[in-house]
Amino acid sequence: MANSVISLEFPRWGRSIALLAIAALLGIALSILLHHSWKDSPSGLLAGGATTVHNRSSRAFSQPSPGLSAEEFDRHGEGDANFDAVFVTAPALVNPGLGPLFNNASCTGCHIKDGRGMPQMGQSLVRVSLPQPTIDPHIGAVPVPGIGVQVRDQAIYGHVPDAKVTVEWQERSGQYPDGTPYKLRSPQVLLGQLDPKKPIPANTLTSLRVPPPVFGTGLLEAIPDKAILALADPDDKNKDGISGQPNFVWDPQQKTTVLGRFGLKANTSSLHVQTAAAYVNDMGVTNPIFPEANGSSDIDAQVLDTTTFYVQTLGVPERTMLDDPQVQRGEKLFTQANCATCHTPMLKTGKSDIKVLANQTIHPYTDMLLHDMGLGLADGRPDFEATGSEWRTAPLWGVGLTQTVLPYSGYLHDGRARTLEEAILWHGGEAEASKTEFMTMKNDDRSALLKFLNSL
Ligand code: HEC
Ligand code: HEC
Repeated sequence: MANSVISLEFPRWGRSIALLAIAALLGIALSILLHHSWKDSPSGLLAGGATTVHNRSSRAFSQPSPGLSAEEFDRHGEGDANFDAVFVTAPALVNPGLGPLFNNASCTGCHIKDGRGMPQMGQSLVRVSLPQPTIDPHIGAVPVPGIGVQVRDQAIYGHVPDAKVTVEWQERSGQYPDGTPYKLRSPQVLLGQLDPKKPIPANTLTSLRVPPPVFGTGLLEAIPDKAILALADPDDKNKDGISGQPNFVWDPQQKTTVLGRFGLKANTSSLHVQTAAAYVNDMGVTNPIFPEANGSSDIDAQVLDTTTFYVQTLGVPERTMLDDPQVQRGEKLFTQANCATCHTPMLKTGKSDIKVLANQTIHPYTDMLLHDMGLGLADGRPDFEATGSEWRTAPLWGVGLTQTVLPYSGYLHDGRARTLEEAILWHGGEAEASKTEFMTMKNDDRSALLKFLNSL
């Protein structure tokens, strides 16, 4: 009897243990699963917070942000039309006011599909100035007499462009420590005089700049000054070899010096001013911030505001391949190689008049600061407080879509890098140690890091 009791009891007891064990295992599995989904990768799927768009097509940079009100959505559409508008010589019924000197006739002619432009004249531009110690505090550089600080290489009928611009590419080869060869190219800008009244001084400093993508800039504008300033370490107090300096620039609208955010040397204060400057300098279209001598302008405040609003409210493409082990390893290597010290993976926006931009956690991969990138990338041309070798950390969100949006487009300020790998190999100065770390990685690790960049 006792035996049969035991034999009856034992399996029941065993079943309870088995059930308990299963429950425990399920619990562990569940907690791992939940933990995994709770612990958002620092880079995050929602690169642009609430403005993130589920689109990784060739139109990924051209999507309106989700969450706009009906009125905002209409305004975005109106701004889209402005961004695409091709200006023509006045007088004309539609979009008059081009030139007399200009670089391109529309925003979209340079920022193709709201992304970058090719490193070629027509889509890029050359900034110029003279190497004198005292810069004009309102311009940030010493203008070349007769030309100013930007070469307008196109002109309407009856006018002569500032100069003829030729870009020559020089190629050189190098090798990784493991013997893998690579090739790098860099541009040389040549200016030829076209207008007898505009001689080009022999000591003219030049800076070739390709248009960077414009999406996500509304979020970058909504990051509080103090969050950006907190990332600066101008005296490298933490001794990691990486300093990071803010640029301070003249704001013609507020008529004061403020933190610089936009442009490749953070040489412009706000999107409003950036847009107004693009109209007047790149297209020769005067506007309320940069009017004609008599105070009139080619476009009114409403057009300027609406175009600015369009840029502010473009969505940021979502990340991809978050579950790919190679991408995850690449992300770790990105942090280990100190890339993330400049390419800040996470920032928070503050207040904004545009609701969808306010208080967002974003993953722009920039600290919005200037870094000395070494002689290889230097243009030798100061821009407000930026020296000739400093550049603003390029935001890396959407960088993996660059070739999808515009095949053959280049990376870095002048588009010299044909691949993400070449872009890393050009890093020097404060980023020298990071580059060396990349170069000494095993081939597999380099591929993982590049795959991570392509997932952004
Ligand atoms: C000739 C080509 C060209 C045209 C036309 C042009 N841009 Fe740009 N854009 C550039 C370049 C080059 C830069 C970088 C400027 C610099 O570093 O000084 C830039 C920078 C910008 C930025 C800053 C992006 C960032 O990440 O800091 C915005 C925004 C922008 N442009 C908007 C516009 C708008 C709006 C228009 C039309 C009104 C326009 N652009 C017309 C070439 C162009
Ligand atoms: C000291 C700061 C710093 C560090 C460290 C750094 N970068 Fe950069 N990165 C920059 C700056 C500044 C630029 C823009 C340079 C230019 O335009 O000439 C840039 C540009 C880039 C670009 C080109 C982006 C574009 O849109 O053209 C890529 C890709 C990039 N970095 C990846 C990396 C990777 C990967 C690492 C680590 C191996 C790294 N960076 C480390 C500051 C840094």
